Amino acid sequence: MATNATWYTNGKGKNVKVLVCKDYETLSKRAAGILAAVVNGNTNPILGLATGSSPVGTYKELIKMNEEGTLDFSKVRTYNLDEYYPLEPTNDQSYHYFMNYNLFDHVNIDKNNVHVPDGNAADIEKAGTDYEAMLDEIGGVDIQLLGIGNNGHIGFNEPTDTFIGPTHVVELTESTIQANARFFEKIEDVPTKAISMGIGSIMKAKKILLVANGAGKADAIAKTLEGPITPFVPASILQLHQDVTIIIDEAAAANLKEYKPEA
Ligand code: GLP
Repeated sequence: MATNATWYTNGKGKNVKVLVCKDYETLSKRAAGILAAVVNGNTNPILGLATGSSPVGTYKELIKMNEEGTLDFSKVRTYNLDEYYPLEPTNDQSYHYFMNYNLFDHVNIDKNNVHVPDGNAADIEKAGTDYEAMLDEIGGVDIQLLGIGNNGHIGFNEPTDTFIGPTHVVELTESTIQANARFFEKIEDVPTKAISMGIGSIMKAKKILLVANGAGKADAIAKTLEGPITPFVPASILQLHQDVTIIIDEAAAANLKEYKPEA
């Protein structure tokens, strides 16, 4: 058995699997392996993809597999979680640009098969409704990759008093604006709004794969896995999904109390 990754369990059911990895490289390789299995196991694979720094290593591994000829993107369709609003897809701070830079420009994907919510739409509410209609039409993605915000957000579903179902326009919280400011020249440049898949859109995925690393995520991960299901920790809803894999490093696992290494 590999010693650099250990499955954890809370002994209460198998719908949420937790893999704790020694380092970010292992985490990225394991996450990429799961995504690759979905691509290789479906004739017309549909991936739900995420931005943020957490999945960058996973994308690097997918690119490597594509280069080595073990992973073919020619039939892959993708749907991204979210986008800043207002921002043009060519803006280098946009999530569309991020995806091109970190994945799409390096693999044999047909860009017509790539979907990112339109952060530049004249009618942003309609852009949300149209995106949700597309997700309904495909019947949910085969696997949704997620990161997690320090405050437990997924996509841009921020902590609030209700779970919002469909793709919608979001006001970003101060903590998210601050956390994401590192990607911008100055904090005033961070958009204060976004368009994001909702909790319902995310839960439509057949499988969910969440990756997180670093001590800054430890609290959010513990609340997600072991806390009450509440819209104040949006990721906690994942406890109700039938097929979730959470891949984290030891620092992000540090606050877990109920989840222990499998015997
Ligand atoms: C952003 C994205 C999320 C992402 C989160 C965490 O707010 N909208 O999808 O999960 O950041 O990002 P990081 O992985 O950089 O910590």
